[in-house]
Amino acid sequence: MGAEKKWVFTLFSAAFISLLIFISTIFGFSSSYYMPFSSHKPFTSVVGRVQGRPPAFAYYISGGHGDVDRMFRLLLAVYHPRNRYLLHISTDGTSTERVKLGELVKSVPSVRAFGNVDVIGKPDPGTYMGSSNVAAVLRASSILLKVDGGWDWFITLSAKDYPLITQDDLSHVFSLVKRDLNFIDHTSDLGFKEDQRVKPIVVDPGLYLARRTQIFHATEKRPLPDAYKIFTGSPWFTLSRSFLEFCVFGWDNLPRTLLMYFTNAVLPQEFYFHSVICNSLEFRNTTVNNDLRFMVWDNPPKMEPHFLNTTNFKQMVESGAGFARQFKKDDPVLDMVDEKILQRGHNRVTPGAWCKGGSRWLMDPCSRWGNVNVLRPSQYFKKFQESIDKLLDDVKSQSNQCR
Ligand SMILES: *[C@@H]1O[C@H](CO)[C@@H](O)[C@H](O)[C@H]1NC(C)=O
Ligand SMILES: *[C@@H]1O[C@H](CO)[C@@H](O)[C@H](O)[C@H]1NC(C)=O
Repeated sequence: MGAEKKWVFTLFSAAFISLLIFISTIFGFSSSYYMPFSSHKPFTSVVGRVQGRPPAFAYYISGGHGDVDRMFRLLLAVYHPRNRYLLHISTDGTSTERVKLGELVKSVPSVRAFGNVDVIGKPDPGTYMGSSNVAAVLRASSILLKVDGGWDWFITLSAKDYPLITQDDLSHVFSLVKRDLNFIDHTSDLGFKEDQRVKPIVVDPGLYLARRTQIFHATEKRPLPDAYKIFTGSPWFTLSRSFLEFCVFGWDNLPRTLLMYFTNAVLPQEFYFHSVICNSLEFRNTTVNNDLRFMVWDNPPKMEPHFLNTTNFKQMVESGAGFARQFKKDDPVLDMVDEKILQRGHNRVTPGAWCKGGSRWLMDPCSRWGNVNVLRPSQYFKKFQESIDKLLDDVKSQSNQCR
């Protein structure tokens, strides 16, 4: 190699190495290869498995192309240092969007300090009708189980959702809930879904084609199974850690068998967890038949509920639900929720008892913090408490479980 060539080579490798260092710094590859941004820290340093501590939640927030800003807003609205968060922009979004979301997340001082938010870097397809949705939820719960031993419940949210209570309220009310209970809306009355969603055989191209295409329909239909009973319900739920371990680790074959069966159903996210939990003797008594969401449906229901707006605000507040869907991006009713319920400032996390930054409006109250295991319920927790109490009475009588 001549002197000139060698110099060029050295310069090239130096540039290449600095590029690598630069990339791994902004993407955080060093800590976790499947995430473009990972603030991964041992959770137990914050929460601890102390007796009598308030419960913690693992949130999975999913979105697609164009959802960066509303996912970030939703994260701020449901943020609490004790919880864990996993954000996923499906394959129809771009890697630029994922990096931008990571940058926004990193800009929040408490997120940087508590290290409890991750953004998935290697995305999955978000085919709405097909089975890739269930695969993505199972993957999210696996990641959350793996990175964090401290949370009690797993909550699924989409970019179109918003909370109706603070995390202090949620944790406060759930302090008295047995940690093995699963809030999952379900019924064995399949109605129109039997013919339109279970009997048709479909294949989700998201499982084997890189490009986004229509779902594939077979010409034949299949009979209903008789080895197990099918249950259906809302695709939004709050599931216990122990039930998700059952689904993900699969020491009993039921979760795996049903996963294979529902791979070929339409909208399996409305069947999978419902059928697993109700066909399992171990878990069927842990079901609470409600999704804790406020939604307004057409009659008969369409694919998605109505978009909510300011005219729904009163009804939303009085519903006793924890979350609502669905909202248009930056709908004025979200500002009402921020201002009246969450007391959340623009681009700031929802304040809680952990925030110690004073109340001066110029300063973010959550830019400094104290004990994160202290909760301060707001005036809005009572409605939510009432609806949970009522649901827990149902559980006692077992009148509304897996029927
Ligand atoms: C579930 O409830 C039924 C009916 O009360 C009871 O017979 C059964 O033992 C319970 N199963 C478990 C695992 O607790
Ligand atoms: C709010 O939604 C309702 C029902 O979808 C609609 O009739 C009404 O015009 C909307 N109001 C505003 C202010 O957008």
